[in-house]
Amino acid sequence: MSRLSTPLAIDAPSLVDDTDAALARYREEFAADLAAAASDDDATLIHVRWLGRKQGVLSSLMPTLASIRDTDVKRRVGQALNALRDQLTADVEALQVRIAVNARAAAPALDLTMPSRPTWRGAVHPVSAVIDEVTAIFRELGFTTQLGPEAEHEWYNFGALNFPENHPAMDAHDTLYLGAGALLRTHTSPVQVRTLQRFKPPVRILAPGMVYRRDFFDSTHAPAFHQIEGLAIDEGVSLVDLKATLAEFARRFYGGTRRTRFGPSYFPFTEPSAQMDVEVDLGDGKGLRWVEILGCGMVHPAVLEAAGVDSEKYTGWAFGMGPGRLALSRHGIPDIRILYDSDVRFLEQFAR
Ligand code: DAH
Repeated sequence: MSRLSTPLAIDAPSLVDDTDAALARYREEFAADLAAAASDDDATLIHVRWLGRKQGVLSSLMPTLASIRDTDVKRRVGQALNALRDQLTADVEALQVRIAVNARAAAPALDLTMPSRPTWRGAVHPVSAVIDEVTAIFRELGFTTQLGPEAEHEWYNFGALNFPENHPAMDAHDTLYLGAGALLRTHTSPVQVRTLQRFKPPVRILAPGMVYRRDFFDSTHAPAFHQIEGLAIDEGVSLVDLKATLAEFARRFYGGTRRTRFGPSYFPFTEPSAQMDVEVDLGDGKGLRWVEILGCGMVHPAVLEAAGVDSEKYTGWAFGMGPGRLALSRHGIPDIRILYDSDVRFLEQFAR
């Protein structure tokens, strides 16, 4: 601010005798200061100059006011000075607001050159996508979904599924025991038993879920992974239904682009038992090879009986598939750990 007025001093006689005229001069000086103000600093300067407690112009008149003897005159002059202080205070405040508003209006409202924030798009996990797809395919074939507990009783996980006591097949499952007869289920097959206890045949269900094994994390094993159990029980159901249904599933899932084959296998809860392999290239430079994607078989009569189903009247088949393996086979991924690492660089490729 280039200039600030230096107000003339007002002596006691002119303040007393012609108060209005004396103060009118101040108002003029003050108005000139206001008009010249351009910044917030200017406003502060004006405030100090006129209203400052120690050096301010109005404060400098206080001794003169104090020296007035006549109380009526003193009151009149005092009131005039108070009115002037109020007005100057209000004017300085208005000045500050005006300066702030002008400053904001002068700033650019939108910076169109500013980079935008990155947006993260969520994606369905490839294993979840497989589970959704398998569920949808089997829904068209008449299967509904059943869920069972991950903390399971030994009997449902092994006993009811015809695992003989202390059978080596139980070791093969590398079970994580919780104590008191409980364990983390090593497969989704216990849901077969729970379902048959609840519903009378015909039964056609799918049971997707997490299973747990005391395995090291390597390219083909995970200590926690997904399975999808399938179960179909009715009168007169045969191995032909099993093969036809699973072959049809593979056709729909891979769109007819992969060869599949059945081979013999062993599970205590099925007789006979089989496995289905799919021919895939896992993208590791080793070319096409056969990968097992599910185990299956005709449900063992002992399992039906354990679940309270008349095995003379009913037969059926079951399967247990690894949706992780299906995801690897579909996308040509050589290492199961990639599925369970939660690395966004991998996962974001599935955003749609
Ligand atoms: N429960 C078996 C496993 O975890 C997979 C399995 C095989 C399930 C055959 C079945 C079946 O229902 O019929 O290795």
